[in-house]
Amino acid sequence: MQDLLFSGVKPTGMPHLGNYIGALRQWVTLQHEYECYFCIVDLHAITVPQDPKNMRQGTLDIAAAYLAVGLDPKRCNIFIQSEVPEHTELGWIMGTIAKMGEMERMTQFKDKSKKGGRERSGLGLFAYPALMAADILLYDTTIVPVGDDQTQHVELTRLLGKRFNDHFGPTFTIPELLIQKHGARIMSLAHPEQKMSKSDESKNGVIMLDDDADTIRHKIMRAVTDSDSGITYHEEKKPAVANLMTIYHHMTGETLEQIEKRFTGKGYGDFKKSLAEVVVEHLAPITKKIKHYREHPQDLMNVLDHGRDAARHVAREKMKLVRDRMGLGRN
Ligand code: TYM
Repeated sequence: MQDLLFSGVKPTGMPHLGNYIGALRQWVTLQHEYECYFCIVDLHAITVPQDPKNMRQGTLDIAAAYLAVGLDPKRCNIFIQSEVPEHTELGWIMGTIAKMGEMERMTQFKDKSKKGGRERSGLGLFAYPALMAADILLYDTTIVPVGDDQTQHVELTRLLGKRFNDHFGPTFTIPELLIQKHGARIMSLAHPEQKMSKSDESKNGVIMLDDDADTIRHKIMRAVTDSDSGITYHEEKKPAVANLMTIYHHMTGETLEQIEKRFTGKGYGDFKKSLAEVVVEHLAPITKKIKHYREHPQDLMNVLDHGRDAARHVAREKMKLVRDRMGLGRN
């Protein structure tokens, strides 16, 4: 059996450079080695309030971004989570396997519920990791490439899969987490102590995959740097510059040492100017393709239909086994 990769992005807006470097970019390479399922996780997106119109557009935008970065629909299955109802069913079941204490330890829930307060947070936001476990376990996934903010969720998935197998008999493959050494947590350009995120209050901190060249230049030239000068990589002492260097590394393929050498004796201004140009150059073909798919959404439909059918086929079989193992329904 070929090893299987599963991963996903929430359709809460165009992906940003953090999503790209932390996740999407790796997928493009890995699609040659694995059977792949790339999901647009709309049911996860609605764990915080969403405008229905934006959801529809956001879902197509993620599909466009998947293709624009280089995912090949002939090699991988691209589909929308809510079109495969088995995700919801197994998500519920995972909620019966998980313990309250385990769910309460999830840092993403703690962070996301901080703003509106725990009492006012949705039950779905709390149950989010159970649905994510279902996404992964449905497909006998062996590898889950994600940014490091998803580490805890993948660890919980492993725990729930093992618990289910121990209790009901071998049913799920236990997946491995795949995290990159550099780039698993791209930080905000405006607040380098926070990760780059769509919810960043400062729009200048986040580069979106569909930003135009001048917007990218503007954001990078305004990026916060560290108090002492010099383009050297040090995560603790120079977190802001380390972040910018990591972005440079991913845009050009140059190693961090090569980048240090290239900018020896140069200041932040020169470095940022060069960084802006390499980001613009790297993203230009992606932005162009996103625009194409936005103008021709029908090009996405076949891909999403095919992905949905392939995913449903696998998910349906797995759910038959799960129901059987648990004694649900009739024979
Ligand atoms: P989401 O939509 O928040 O993010 C998608 C992917 O991008 C990564 N990422 C980052 N990587 C580096 N630096 C950043 N600043 C950064 N911000 C985001 C995320 O780690 C993720 O890999 N729960 C997931 C979606 C999901 C999923 C799944 C993923 C649902 N089911 C099953 C894998 C497998 C999420 O919210 O991703």
